[in-house]
Amino acid sequence: MDWKELYTQRCGSADEVVRHIRDNDRVLLANAAGEPALLVDAMVRNKSCYQNVTVSQMATLGPSPYCFPKNRDCFQPELWFLSNRTRKCVECGYGHFVPVHLHEVPEFIRSRVFRVDVMMLSVSPPDENGYVSTGVSSDYTMQGVRSARTVLAEINDRIPVTYGDTRLHISEIDTFMESSRELPEIPPSPIGEVEAAIGRHCAALIQDGSTLQLGIGVIPDAILSQLGEKKHLGIHSEMISDGVVELYQKGVIDNSRKTIDRGKSVATFLMGTKKLYDFVNHNPDIELRTADYVNSPLVIAQHSQMVSINSCIQVDLFGQVAADMIGTTQFSGVGGQADFVRGTRMAMDGKGISIIALSSTAARKDGTVISKIVPSLPAGTAVTTMRQDVDYIVTEYGVAYMRGKPIRERAKALIQIAHPSFRDSLQKQFTQKFHADCKIG
Ligand code: COA
Repeated sequence: MDWKELYTQRCGSADEVVRHIRDNDRVLLANAAGEPALLVDAMVRNKSCYQNVTVSQMATLGPSPYCFPKNRDCFQPELWFLSNRTRKCVECGYGHFVPVHLHEVPEFIRSRVFRVDVMMLSVSPPDENGYVSTGVSSDYTMQGVRSARTVLAEINDRIPVTYGDTRLHISEIDTFMESSRELPEIPPSPIGEVEAAIGRHCAALIQDGSTLQLGIGVIPDAILSQLGEKKHLGIHSEMISDGVVELYQKGVIDNSRKTIDRGKSVATFLMGTKKLYDFVNHNPDIELRTADYVNSPLVIAQHSQMVSINSCIQVDLFGQVAADMIGTTQFSGVGGQADFVRGTRMAMDGKGISIIALSSTAARKDGTVISKIVPSLPAGTAVTTMRQDVDYIVTEYGVAYMRGKPIRERAKALIQIAHPSFRDSLQKQFTQKFHADCKIG
């Protein structure tokens, strides 16, 4: 059948599309800006049509109504990453968090460790041959499409057409609706003095010709803003954001020295503003590949001068990094942090470095300022990056180098980059707790 005939047959309203969901199904939503927000709204609006539906997703940028307490009679969230919009359902016990390395997610879907009955995603309108693009996310989305019983899509003319593992034929989608919905935007965070200082320290560690991975949050944006004078940088990153566009336009990122995928910026998903989405549209220099490629430590290790830059919320004096959890509170997820830290350490040229960059303090909701560098992680905290994997830890006060260092030297280096008002108490607690017989200062 001609694809245009198929298109007419399979196109319906959002309410018609979601009626393909059945009782006890597990629905997988595409990652981040790839979430089909209008279908998600329709799925929740039609909740009387099905029961006991499990919903899984990685990063969520929308309101995630399937996590609202009033919808818990129908939906069980089982999430691979949390944010302040989705944390509550886990804290209240009707939602669940799954710790997982992003590079393993496609294989978990393929092998049905993660069963997917219904895949819901956004795609661009079809080209003249009936091919659509998943545009902003390749990650686990492509495997979700290939493993699901039913594939439901929002065909949105705002989804950019990107190259790599993003191309599907319209015949691979069982039913869809059309939209012209603006994509969710994550504008770059404002860069204050603290972030700028962190950016400068990190920039000093990055050599011309390096290939970069940049993680999530305000710090990676601040680092990008300090790289304007570098030359021949490349990108092999789980995510890319607006900061990359500026460096591309300045000629700083040219991917000319990459060991593999030379000439291309490679990522697995995109998260930014319209500026980024316009930049990647039909741009042959950008490739979105699946997470089992981009985040595979074995692929990351093939890059020469690989630099991974991620952030965290707490670090202890051993150099153990908590990026997704403190005590019993799950803040976000493991994502690709360990994938990149490990892949970078394994790099064959021995020149790979991983940087964990954080502000030295955090403010509690009641206004109290606390140190993010602590003597030991609170009971219950799961470690995201292990002390034997960590390389550089950077705050606005400088750089602490951990690789191969004994505990006492790690603690000393970390206390030196803690906020000055916490240094004395950190040293005292370290001496009392771990080394009663020796001074580290
Ligand atoms: N104590 C208590 N709460 C803390 C804290 C601390 N020491 N440090 C941060 N927080 C809270 C913040 O208040 C914020 O709470 P909110 O979500 O309710 O607003 C939350 O933790 C996130 O902190 P924030 O400083 O806003 O983080 P960010 O946007 O700069 O992101 C990470 C930083 C670490 C959360 C983020 O990088 C992450 O999720 N990393 C794990 C996955 C990863 O690294 N992937 C990399 C490959 S892309």
